[in-house]
Amino acid sequence: MKTVEGDQMLKPSGNGDTAADSRRGDAGHSIALMKDGGALAPHQLEARRLINTDPATRELTNSFRELRTRLLELSDGQNFTTLVVPVSQGCGASFVARNLALAFAFDESRTALLVDCDLQRPSQHLALDVEPASGGLTDYLEHPAIGIKPILYHTGIPRLRLVPAGNAQNGHMEYFSSFRMRAVLDSLRCRYPDRYLFLDGPPIKGSPDARILSDLADYVVVVAGYGRDTPSSINRAVAGFDPNKLAGIVFNETP
Ligand SMILES: Nc1ncnc2c1ncn2[C@@H]1O[C@H](COP(=O)(O)OP(=O)(O)OP(=O)(O)O)[C@@H](O)[C@H]1O
Ligand SMILES: [Mg+2]
Repeated sequence: MKTVEGDQMLKPSGNGDTAADSRRGDAGHSIALMKDGGALAPHQLEARRLINTDPATRELTNSFRELRTRLLELSDGQNFTTLVVPVSQGCGASFVARNLALAFAFDESRTALLVDCDLQRPSQHLALDVEPASGGLTDYLEHPAIGIKPILYHTGIPRLRLVPAGNAQNGHMEYFSSFRMRAVLDSLRCRYPDRYLFLDGPPIKGSPDARILSDLADYVVVVAGYGRDTPSSINRAVAGFDPNKLAGIVFNETP
């Protein structure tokens, strides 16, 4: 059964003294210290608003771990693609997509690939401090000859890679309904059986793109702004998706 399985409530973590928190935290457990080279220090993770094992973010970190567990329970043991979309703009869905991907990367037996599919307001390269010098998703879709490798970027976080949205902006091209889009996602997911894909999608309200993207995903996580989106607007938003793909609704409280 793949119906809406319980709701998740995310609150911003406390704004403690991050340097002191990092010192108090168990550095041995920090993802910043896991192998992969060039790893970020805990305060750098904090600055990027990324979950880590410091006590200050533990509650939030556990929420993402629960969401990870729920998705893994729904799956049949194979790697999968999860679309994360906000009901309306500014719910913090990009934050949720980023940290959910990170929760999978926490697990040393898995890797995560975050794909920024919000072409109107791409943000993951900024949040993760990645300079998309060799282009991103739309560049590949327009010019597949460049290959996939140049659009896969290291993030400084072990086992977490980013495909940025890209620089090509052809407003007339239906990127997400293209054959190439489906093919590239399939090949990214199938290449490594331990790789999990997370699509950071555009708002459901106002454009069909979120629904079109859901056709390319195995699961959909809908992010509602706590105190922002009304129950009826959430219901309307959720109604557009295949109920078998709906993994849950996250109520996120932005800081
Ligand atoms: N629960 C939270 N705890 C801490 N910081 C958060 C939380 N939710 C969002 N933020 C921060 O708020 C800012 C805006 O979030 P985000 O980038 O996800 O917004 P957005 O892309 O405008 O929203 P959406 O993707 O829903 O349209 C970011 O700096 C993000 O890190
Ligand atoms: Mg966003």
